[in-house]
Amino acid sequence: MNTVQDLDNHLPLGADLQVGKMPAHWLMARLGKRILRPGGRETTAWLLERVQPGADDDVVELAPGLGITACELLARRPASYTGIERDPGAVRFTERQLLRAGAADARILRADAERIPLPDGSASLVFGEAMLSMQPEAKKAAIFAEVCRLLRPGGRYAVHELAVIPEDLDPKRLEDIQHDLGRAIHVGVRIGTPAQWKKLLEQAGLRLEAVTTTPMRLLEWDRLVDDEGIWGTLRFACNVLRTPGALARLWEVRRTFRRHAGHLCAVALVAGKP
Ligand SMILES: C[S@@+](CC[C@H](N)C(=O)[O-])C[C@H]1O[C@@H](n2cnc3c(N)ncnc32)[C@H](O)[C@@H]1O
Repeated sequence: MNTVQDLDNHLPLGADLQVGKMPAHWLMARLGKRILRPGGRETTAWLLERVQPGADDDVVELAPGLGITACELLARRPASYTGIERDPGAVRFTERQLLRAGAADARILRADAERIPLPDGSASLVFGEAMLSMQPEAKKAAIFAEVCRLLRPGGRYAVHELAVIPEDLDPKRLEDIQHDLGRAIHVGVRIGTPAQWKKLLEQAGLRLEAVTTTPMRLLEWDRLVDDEGIWGTLRFACNVLRTPGALARLWEVRRTFRRHAGHLCAVALVAGKP
């Protein structure tokens, strides 16, 4: 049985899972990859530039994962930061990151984004990356409703997810893409076009303020270097090579991304609560 050893700082994520079976994002994380979202740091930077988090903001981040965006948000010194993460290993990892960053009063709650243990109107900014695409439609709608409940009037929701293009993509083609992605990354995938993401936000009572798309190049060398830096990329590559089964698994993920490259992108949306 090929399991990933504690390659990276005793990372608890998916520790008991087999390389061939674990969700691709946890495999990448255990091999040292830190950016687990489709549009990389570039798309996160676009969102941060749009929403300009500041001292007046009460920030709630859905699914902080490894806490990379959490650190970016905290660097803007918001009034408060709360992460909502359902994976216990990711909660522990992010807590350590925040302590290292000196953000002692930031907190991570172990919870499902569908039922957030915070009062109505407790956020002025909700941030969520690479977590909606893996939810079934009903759960997605429940998460959007929860975001709406949390946001105060005038509050904003920043979203970064996978999308398909063009807008008139044949539904059969979309089914094939979702099926292939799910098989490669071992997580169910439910995505839409940018206009369909917008529609979901509007159905929840939010108003779209800005949207952009970025090519989906998560496992391409140029994107790896942009996201992880040269040393981070080398460390990731070394870990892939010395972990039995990892190269074949990630090769399959990249092959799938490439097969559908013409129809896949990252989408970033900012929506406001009227
Ligand atoms: C692909 S990772 C993305 C992590 C991080 N946002 C990033 O962009 O690097 C997906 C994350 O979403 C979390 N997640 C998935 N569904 C969730 C839910 N319903 N509630 C809270 N967290 C969830 C997972 O535990 C994981 O940390």
